[in-house]
Amino acid sequence: PARITAHTLLEKKRQAQPITALTAYDYPTARLVDEAGIDVILVGDSLAMAVLGHEDTLSVTLDEILHHARAVSRAARTAFLIGDMPFGSYNVSLDESVRNALRFIKEAGMAAVKIEGGVHQAPLVERLTAAEIPVVGHIGLTPQAVHRMGGYRVQGKTVEAMDTLAADALALERAGAVALVLEGIPRELAERITRSLSIPTIGIGAGPDCDGQILVFHDLFNFSFTNTPKFVRRFGDATRLYREGIAQYRESVVARSFPSDAESYHLPGNSPAARTP
Ligand code: KIV
Ligand code: NA
Repeated sequence: PARITAHTLLEKKRQAQPITALTAYDYPTARLVDEAGIDVILVGDSLAMAVLGHEDTLSVTLDEILHHARAVSRAARTAFLIGDMPFGSYNVSLDESVRNALRFIKEAGMAAVKIEGGVHQAPLVERLTAAEIPVVGHIGLTPQAVHRMGGYRVQGKTVEAMDTLAADALALERAGAVALVLEGIPRELAERITRSLSIPTIGIGAGPDCDGQILVFHDLFNFSFTNTPKFVRRFGDATRLYREGIAQYRESVVARSFPSDAESYHLPGNSPAARTP
């Protein structure tokens, strides 16, 4: 299948075909996600929690995300690849932000970058777009703003907040964003924003009316070691699968039933095949 591009996503919105997206942070998971025909892979800064064991997304560095993004890009053949700009990598100046965004394209094989924030990020979206770096916006519950929000709270629950977020969405589209992640907002607001934009919306905790859906890979498979929010649906149980496998491996080594003779190398003329005709 052909590589998914920003144009493909726009066309999917026009044709009312749902856009599928997942995060991935390494080669094997990106391989599986890509081969399953998922449209979009986000190398999210959720890497910080999902894989690196941090409390929140704030401390993960650009170099750390790039390291994982490179592994993902080696695996993915068709998915549209988005690199998540980490906190601090686009908060100092426009010039520094462009330089950092370029690294996702030049060093890590990403097709776009994602930044959190509304109308105040419009100048940066314009600068990145002018530099031929496709930008995905991200509004609503934006985890890098955890201190301002006072925790991970659903956003856009008042009339005023709804109008602000709707205006943010329009400003990002006008600035050149190719898609928008809507996170942690009421379904009704996500529906309103999705209808008001010509670019696709990709929701997480934003209800079923977005143009697409995204979830964190590890949440999907009960591999997060946290209580997942209500918008997560579990599609598999990796914790159980791995736990059972690890326990069986351990028991097999302790019982000396692993490795078997057949799982061993032999001197010439002394192989199991040679001995059992
Ligand atoms: O980092 C991430 O995984 C994200 C998605 C949840 C949208 O930003
Ligand atoms: Na993120």
